[in-house]
Amino acid sequence: MTAIPATFRAFVAEQVGATVNRGVRPFAEADLPPGEVEVRVLWSSVNYKDGLATIAGGKVARISPLIAGIDLAGEVVASADPSIPVGIAVLAHGYDLGVSRHGGFAEFQRVPAVWVVPLGPALTPRLAMALGTAGFTAALSVVRLEERGLRPGTGPVLVTGASGGLGTAAVGILAARGYEVVAATGKQDEADRLRGLGAAVVVDRAEVAAESTRPLEAERWAGAVDCVGGATLPYILRTLRRDATVAASGNAGGAGFATTVFPFILRSAALVGIDSAQVPIAERRVIWERLGDDLRPIGLGDGVTEVTLDTLPEALTAILAGRARGRWIVRIGC
Ligand SMILES: NC(=O)c1ccc[n+]([C@@H]2O[C@H](COP(=O)([O-])OP(=O)(O)OC[C@H]3O[C@@H](n4cnc5c(N)ncnc54)[C@H](OP(=O)(O)O)[C@@H]3O)[C@@H](O)[C@H]2O)c1
Repeated sequence: MTAIPATFRAFVAEQVGATVNRGVRPFAEADLPPGEVEVRVLWSSVNYKDGLATIAGGKVARISPLIAGIDLAGEVVASADPSIPVGIAVLAHGYDLGVSRHGGFAEFQRVPAVWVVPLGPALTPRLAMALGTAGFTAALSVVRLEERGLRPGTGPVLVTGASGGLGTAAVGILAARGYEVVAATGKQDEADRLRGLGAAVVVDRAEVAAESTRPLEAERWAGAVDCVGGATLPYILRTLRRDATVAASGNAGGAGFATTVFPFILRSAALVGIDSAQVPIAERRVIWERLGDDLRPIGLGDGVTEVTLDTLPEALTAILAGRARGRWIVRIGC
């Protein structure tokens, strides 16, 4: 028995020959995959991966047609799992959502119970999507750095791609926890906003993407959250302090990178990979609980830009062009 109407509105990407057609269309409930939990989607958000999932050659979408959207938050309207009752607020993101299974850019969605995160009182569905996959990934990066010994007071922590979704959240989380945050951005007009989120210093993106033939340079960073990759990750490895760690999550500046072994064998530098999509549900629920509490970023919910299913294409194009300033959230069922 379903609580989802026979048809509902969804933003669909469909491969047609060499191109991808994308836009809002009616979608049939009967075409959704099985799952224990049905959600009336109130909010979703726009992530870099959504941009890739909705363009030709983006190499993200694994089915066609695909309801895009790698995250969603809303209200449970039907559930076969007693631990996730009807009426509660939940979110889901990652795993196959918006990639090989229909995602969050829809008025309704059906998901496996083991993908669902019940929302505590500290986070509304709107705030949850103001964080979204980007905020979760920032929090996961901080958790991984602290697991490796990073503590406030041990030195500056670099955040790259700071004006984007992941970077903005990382700056706000680290600053709220008492770290000295250095935010690197290519948008100097974002400097005031980043200081408002708690950045102690804002530096130009070019400084942290500088090429060099030297295998090591002066030790600067007690830790780093990097979502840029490309030339930035080798720079960070050359300038990490002894025993420090960089959490690498993204490729906004390029997927390949060239480095030497010297940061690893002469300074015990560590490179930790961050994959938010496959984090086991138990840890995922703990981190979301903490995002409403001790990992809550300064400025959460401020300065987000709202779009709708109909105005999504503009945001999807802008995020791929590196024009992100904080987060776009998608108002759907409210
Ligand atoms: N591993 C995971 O689980 C995971 C999860 C979420 C996201 N990601 C990845 O993390 C990255 C950031 O995601 P996001 O949602 O924060 O994206 P976003 O909102 O688009 O932010 C990316 C930021 O990177 C910087 N940037 C863009 N183009 C650049 C370039 N050519 N060179 C250097 N910097 C550039 C820009 O910041 P400035 O202008 O401030 O420099 C931009 O705002 C993406 O690659 C995304 O796929 C990974």
